[in-house]
Amino acid sequence: MATHEINSGLEGVLVAATRLSEVDGEHGRLLIAGHDVEDLARSASFEAVCALLWTSAGPETYGEVDVRAELGAMRVRAWSELERLGDALRAKDGMEALRASVAHLDLDGVAPAREHARVTAAVTVFAAAWARTRAGEPPIAPSATASTADDYLRMVTGTTPGEPERRALDVYLTTVSDHGLNASTFAARVIASTQSDTVSAVVGALGALKGPLHGGAPGPVLDMLDAVGHPDRASAWIDAELSRGRRIMGMGHRIYRVRDPRAAVFERAIAALHSSGAHVPRLPVARAVEGAAVGALAAKYPARALATNVEFYTAVLLDALGLPREVFTPTFAVGRVAGWSAHIAEQRAKGRLIRPSSHYIGERPAARAERAPARC
Ligand code: COA
Repeated sequence: MATHEINSGLEGVLVAATRLSEVDGEHGRLLIAGHDVEDLARSASFEAVCALLWTSAGPETYGEVDVRAELGAMRVRAWSELERLGDALRAKDGMEALRASVAHLDLDGVAPAREHARVTAAVTVFAAAWARTRAGEPPIAPSATASTADDYLRMVTGTTPGEPERRALDVYLTTVSDHGLNASTFAARVIASTQSDTVSAVVGALGALKGPLHGGAPGPVLDMLDAVGHPDRASAWIDAELSRGRRIMGMGHRIYRVRDPRAAVFERAIAALHSSGAHVPRLPVARAVEGAAVGALAAKYPARALATNVEFYTAVLLDALGLPREVFTPTFAVGRVAGWSAHIAEQRAKGRLIRPSSHYIGERPAARAERAPARC
């Protein structure tokens, strides 16, 4: 007789072979297109990582210089399309704005090899334009020659960033560009597996990223740090949250059994920003909350290692860069769309329709033999 063991979270189920990234949850290691995330964060630009990911997805080869020029040109093109987005950028939530604005993208006439840059640049421009609209300011036009990090910071904050800020955002975008089959990437691959179009796959991925169990966590992390307020209050606050059965944002991960390696990358970026003279207001309280949360979670779940995830120090880093918390998840999308786009191409090239099964537990019609005989 068939057993109906249900794996509702799909843990350990392999549905794709990929050249794009590997998440080693036991050892806390992340490879992106053959490179350790720490090495990329130290020396690679976001454009260089886009080139690596898009080349790995095949069949074209991309170089950093060309990708930078292409992204710049595509940002200018996306800017010229803002008017036809209608009310999309007036949505209260940044991810709703992105979802609606990306849905307007027209890829007709865009060669498949240029789709990566088209969607990546559009997300950059639409996220920045939403941030300005939300702040009651007019959107700022992109520069065709700037890097993505440089241009995005300027388009959101209205000031030209210094080298430390530009570098810190480059580290952020590079580090979040890809991460195995996370929920949004999986959503993109499921949609691509039906031979649907790239825009539909990216819109689906944006919807998945929005949730607080995935990319929606860093804003609430900052809310938590503000609610704690002072390092001395961290332990009591965390204990009270856990006793109410609440989840601590920025803690725990489906794959990592140790601290997320991206947390350490962001800590280094924060330290570099700090030593360049930037104010990192929430770092002391963040350190205290992290210590308290890790300790309390270990006590509550001794059999399940729950450690700091990427979103915890994302909040501290993006806050130190002067980005408002509402823009954190859209900024995540600016980096992650590079990976989605690569996964969509990879799925299209090699994948089959992704179509799992479910076990029916609803009502059934009465068995034939038990039914009253039909009278004529
Ligand atoms: N705070 C408190 N409890 C947590 C927790 C957290 N951050 N993360 C997991 N747990 C608890 C779960 O509630 C579960 O408890 P239960 O058995 O009493 O129901 C137990 O730990 C085991 O959870 P697990 O199966 O490991 O969680 P998951 O793999 O389904 O979820 C996350 C992973 C990321 C969704 C989860 O850790 C979480 O919600 N974290 C907070 C949100 C967050 O930071 N999201 C960004 C992820 S990058």
